[in-house]
Amino acid sequence: MSPILKVGVVGTGIFATDRHLPSYQEMSDNFKVVAAYNRTKAKALIFAEKAGLPDNKVYDDLDQILNDKDVDYIDALLPVQFNVSTLQKAIAAGKPILMEKPIAATMEQARKMVQLADSTDLPVGIAENWLYLQVIEPAKEQLKRIGEVVGFTHNSTGPFVQDNKYLATTWRQNPEHIGGFLSDGGVHQLALVTDILGEFDTISALTSQVREVSGADDIVFSTVRLRNKKTIGTFTYGSAFGASEKSVFLKIYGTKGSMVIDLSNKTKPVIKIRVGDSAESASAEEVIEVNVEESFGVNPEFLNFHEAVAKKDKTLFKSSPRAAFHHLACVAAFLESSATNGDHVTVERI
Ligand SMILES: NC(=O)c1ccc[n+]([C@@H]2O[C@H](COP(=O)([O-])OP(=O)(O)OC[C@H]3O[C@@H](n4cnc5c(N)ncnc54)[C@H](OP(=O)(O)O)[C@@H]3O)[C@@H](O)[C@H]2O)c1
Repeated sequence: MSPILKVGVVGTGIFATDRHLPSYQEMSDNFKVVAAYNRTKAKALIFAEKAGLPDNKVYDDLDQILNDKDVDYIDALLPVQFNVSTLQKAIAAGKPILMEKPIAATMEQARKMVQLADSTDLPVGIAENWLYLQVIEPAKEQLKRIGEVVGFTHNSTGPFVQDNKYLATTWRQNPEHIGGFLSDGGVHQLALVTDILGEFDTISALTSQVREVSGADDIVFSTVRLRNKKTIGTFTYGSAFGASEKSVFLKIYGTKGSMVIDLSNKTKPVIKIRVGDSAESASAEEVIEVNVEESFGVNPEFLNFHEAVAKKDKTLFKSSPRAAFHHLACVAAFLESSATNGDHVTVERI
């Protein structure tokens, strides 16, 4: 029987309250939130009430929760410029830790995160829930049918949403993390595309800031070559436009067919595929509807971290710091390329 892992939550803000806590509560056979720490204690106390924690399990600092022997692992949901120092402390305390995306605020910090994770046998994860979307495995299966992949178009665009509670957070409006929303949300898209197709090698991009409230550039249009050298494509991301339909899709072109993974309706993703090496031999379009769970990847992500912690094997966790490094490195390459008017930039490897 799988053990119930006892979780200490650090940073009891919006996402901790609205998504992580409900996920832990839905999976009570596997997890129990047993302690919390937040900079503003009043917010931690509200979280504690929702989690059913006694007041003496709401701590006044990070060291106290790290030293709680009841806590099997830490789930940290902080602005990511705090990831390095939090990871250092967790390793010193011997606690596995799951931290939020993007991996870090800068590439220098991201390198340090990978170094630190490599230096320990403790499971260390970056919570990139899009790596666990249920559309990914069926998409990989269908991909085998369209021959060699020669091109792709990824598009994730939508209207600016004024009444967005995430946007109202001051650390997002004054981002220390490179690229602001381009890394905050963009790493999710990059996780999806690179998990299905492979890592980016070079990028030529232009980025721009549409909304002042974004605090940094908030749209990117780019062309990309994958590391396999054969595949070229485009990657477009931004939710800062005027009224427009929300459109999230990855179209993949192969020598023997093509497919589209359409995530525009988050709760009803579809894969559309056409097989054949020419217009004359093309089959009729097949439409595959994918059933999804409601946590948008968070529940399977937690179960994967559970497995790594319970089996004391950090290699079992898919969303590793090394995987997450690539996604931030792509954002860094977008920005570097744009600064030189779209020159091709090689994505940093580690
Ligand atoms: N995977 C996803 O889809 C997803 C979605 C949303 C958010 N996230 C991630 O979750 C994390 C939290 O985001 P959120 O939207 O929940 O934001 P939030 O509500 O602002 O939460 C941020 C938390 O960090 C704490 N904090 C802020 N500055 C701090 C400092 N200087 N020292 C110590 N603690 C500090 C805040 O404490 P106070 O209460 O004292 O301000 C708050 O508890 C971020 O890393 C974000 O990228 C992920």
